[in-house]
Amino acid sequence: MKSILLIASVLIISSCKSADTKTAVGKEAWTANMHQLSQSVANLIPLAHDPLQFNDPNNREIIHQEVGRLAKFSHDLGTTNTQGIADPAMEYVASRFSADMQEARRQLSIGNPTYSRYIIRNATNYCISCHTQSDRGPKFLGMEADPFYQKLNSLDRTNYLIAVRRFDEAVLEFEKAMNSPDVALWPFPSLESVTLKILAVAVRVKKDPKMAERIITRMVQSKWAPVYLQMSGIKWREGIDEWSRAKTKPKTLGDAKKLISAAVKKQAESPMSRAGLIEYLQASGVLHDLLNDKKPGKDYAETLYYAGIASESLRELDLLDTSERYFETCIRHLPHSPQARNCYIRLESAQIAGYSESESGRLPPSVRANLDALKKLAETKGQPWLDEKRKAE
Ligand code: HEC
Repeated sequence: MKSILLIASVLIISSCKSADTKTAVGKEAWTANMHQLSQSVANLIPLAHDPLQFNDPNNREIIHQEVGRLAKFSHDLGTTNTQGIADPAMEYVASRFSADMQEARRQLSIGNPTYSRYIIRNATNYCISCHTQSDRGPKFLGMEADPFYQKLNSLDRTNYLIAVRRFDEAVLEFEKAMNSPDVALWPFPSLESVTLKILAVAVRVKKDPKMAERIITRMVQSKWAPVYLQMSGIKWREGIDEWSRAKTKPKTLGDAKKLISAAVKKQAESPMSRAGLIEYLQASGVLHDLLNDKKPGKDYAETLYYAGIASESLRELDLLDTSERYFETCIRHLPHSPQARNCYIRLESAQIAGYSESESGRLPPSVRANLDALKKLAETKGQPWLDEKRKAE
């Protein structure tokens, strides 16, 4: 066992070194990496969904091998760089993904397959988080005859198809799932989570209001969807109607700001906490695109700020604290500016809230120190944080 770990760590170290020659590793290395990840996910996910199979000694070798490969290839993502993609969310997702896969491998090696299985089951969330941000990348990949695939139930299939970017098939599978009795056995949160993911595909990747409308209609008509989700669906359809009727497609920072205001208003006026989902998804799609065209300056800092806000409301899709990465990047991008101030205020409250939910409720010293440093960077000369005069206005 030790020797496997040793070999794996040598591989990791050597791949870190190759990062020095980053310029040579471009799109090709990235694509090859993605194919390796897909292969491992295809081999592991069906096993991870079945505790008996995961613990079966006959599967031990393949599980160790594939978890090791996931750990290696996810790590390599960070070093091949996100092919010049300037969106800080990508880098963050890549590093979290890698840390999780290293942990899955470690848990397996210390004899805790149950926890490892849990991490592997959730691995596709990382793939989905990157792949559904906007319309970058290939959208349809050939479907090989995968015998393992037949073993998944309908919602797992949808999840898997989104993860490997077979978006058209994912939508068809979701629509089938809504009539499939196995969905009745699923907990409500899973149904909600798959619905959010497939809507992210329709709105951010495909940018197709008709597709979004079809998805929602199927969900609303499903016998197994909870009422709050069905009612949210009806609200979402209004958003889609507005989107279809609009004469121009949203593209600019101004468009994204308008969409976010509309989302906030809808959520304030409705008992459904996700009433503004469609607007948030549209806004975040626009913001991800703007971040990738990185044009440094005030607008870029403001784009980061709004990307953080959108990401806070899309936490399940964008991973827990992606928004905090946006706020931090914003402060570092344009220190001592009004944008940095706004970003700091959001970041401070998000971090304090985040850690107050943790066991000790305390900010670890390193987090505290980082926050202090960011606060200094966010300060603007001659403008105290609390401007009493302005308060009196
Ligand atoms: C850090 C973000 C990120 C993560 C995590 C990620 N991907 Fe990707 N993936 C991308 C991007 C970006 C592209 C598109 C590249 C391009 O522009 O062609 C891509 C492309 C792909 C492709 C298409 C490759 C081709 O033929 O061009 C596949 C397949 C794929 N990913 C599978 C996966 C799987 C499976 C996982 C999870 C185990 C995963 N990816 C995790 C960002 C990510």
